[in-house]
Amino acid sequence: MTTRAPIMAGNWKMHKDHLEATQLVQKVAYHLNEGDYEGQDVVVCPPFVSLRNIQVLLDAERLPIQLGAQDCHQESSGAFTGEISAPMLARLDVDWVIVGHSERRQVFGEHDALVAAKAVAVQAAGMAPIVAVGETLEQRQADQAAAVVDAQLRGSLDGVSVEDPTRLVVAYEPIWAIGTGETASAEDAQDMCAHVRTVLADLFGQDVADAIRVQYGGSVKPGNVRELMGQPDIDGALVGGASLNADDFALIVTHRR
Ligand code: PGA
Repeated sequence: MTTRAPIMAGNWKMHKDHLEATQLVQKVAYHLNEGDYEGQDVVVCPPFVSLRNIQVLLDAERLPIQLGAQDCHQESSGAFTGEISAPMLARLDVDWVIVGHSERRQVFGEHDALVAAKAVAVQAAGMAPIVAVGETLEQRQADQAAAVVDAQLRGSLDGVSVEDPTRLVVAYEPIWAIGTGETASAEDAQDMCAHVRTVLADLFGQDVADAIRVQYGGSVKPGNVRELMGQPDIDGALVGGASLNADDFALIVTHRR
């Protein structure tokens, strides 16, 4: 079995202005030693308006934190008022882009085909997509969670390249666990992440599936990260609320210490 380097990512959502964003990154960096970055990817995904500030800070201080964005438009340019394209993000040294987050799907009506188009655009611009999937509480209660995630994966990965499988991440985020304080049990999270890998193997073959990282997201905190990360098919965390606090995010990143 391939060893997969963990990927620990903070999704700040619509929080922190550009001054607060700079401070937060500085604080996170203060808590982390050189060794904490070794063998894993540490990513922050601030709102668009803070990307430039953080890029400059990371560059000036030579910090090994990687920059991510929370979304992008699927076209590279055009008359799309209010939108941000993948090439624009790439120019800011953004390396990762979350696509298909459940808030984009639920609040903004994004569907699998659009998510796939965005993921393809991210790759075309030389960045790596974090493709998010996950079921609602009703779907879980109706025993449909595995089928929903299966369909989301097939639709959202349509046309996505796995030439370098380390540059594609799937985030499994059960919607009922996001921002609710309610985490999936490590066992449930593991079961679904293993299911994700089975679907990936069906789509791309076992070797590729073994190399793709699957993150768990949904109320990840310093107190539960170790158990979650101890599961064989969980290769990282996509962290919302707890990533807004430098101490907590640093504890999540250093869960192996
Ligand atoms: P949460 O958010 O950690 O606040 O539950 C996770 C996410 O939506 O990515």
